[in-house]
Amino acid sequence: MNTLQANATTGEVFLRLPAPHENIIITTPRESDRDDLVLMLNDPRIYKFLLSPPFPYQPHHAEEWLRTTKEKSDELLEDLRKGKAVVDGCPVQYIRETQADGTDLLLGDVSVRRNGWLEVDDEEQRAKMAKENLAKPVGDHSIVWTIGDYLRPSHHGKGIMSAAVGAVINRWMVPYMNAHNIRTEAIEGNIGSVRVFEKNGFRLLELVKVDRIGPGFGRVEGVHVLEWQRPGE
Ligand SMILES: CC(C)(COP(=O)(O)OP(=O)(O)OC[C@H]1O[C@@H](n2cnc3c(N)ncnc32)[C@H](O)[C@@H]1OP(=O)(O)O)[C@@H](O)C(=O)NCCC(=O)NCCS
Repeated sequence: MNTLQANATTGEVFLRLPAPHENIIITTPRESDRDDLVLMLNDPRIYKFLLSPPFPYQPHHAEEWLRTTKEKSDELLEDLRKGKAVVDGCPVQYIRETQADGTDLLLGDVSVRRNGWLEVDDEEQRAKMAKENLAKPVGDHSIVWTIGDYLRPSHHGKGIMSAAVGAVINRWMVPYMNAHNIRTEAIEGNIGSVRVFEKNGFRLLELVKVDRIGPGFGRVEGVHVLEWQRPGE
């Protein structure tokens, strides 16, 4: 586990971002993250750009989410401890900034999962594609992955998410997940998100027209689709 380090006091596993963001780490979930998740996911500067989380985002949503992500993270760490060279996800996803007094501030989330083709309007077709992708064995090079992310608005525009996505892909997904394909979606007009992925080697494929009830119950009419393929392929 060269990429991951463990906190000397708490044992919590983390991945540190490179300079100039050395004060930022990506860690496993904590129960104490609940209130920060509720705060961020009810902020229009965040929720209006996300297709998956419920809205309004209630404390019980955060509790369930933290429980599920902690279970998944624990499973992945256990697989690694048992010596598995390739695992089915990334055990760290919560971005935190270490403050001058040694405490840390939750900045957001960068999470990896198997792709679910959110941009496909036809539910049956979408479910079929997601099911086939989920059925692939761990480490299969044809698995299509996706990355979801959001950041506390006070920290937007400082290059943090570009660095976090880069670290997760290059230092985790490639060496420890055998990732070859990643597909992401951004709601039409989310230029910041498109740029984060482009800066990490993604190609903007198309703007897919959709017809959805979107976050905060607005309408979503278009989704940018981006794709990353392992360099050299
Ligand atoms: C999208 C988001 C994660 C970007 O994170 P960030 O740390 O602010 O992004 P970075 O600072 O790494 O910026 C990356 C690039 O995007 C550009 N950018 C960032 N926000 C932008 C905005 N609102 N409009 C235009 N460009 C923007 C930056 O200028 C930079 O490009 P450059 O290097 O060519 O100048 C963040 O704005 C966010 O959390 N938004 C709300 C939730 C969201 O949209 N999540 C993604 C869902 S697909």
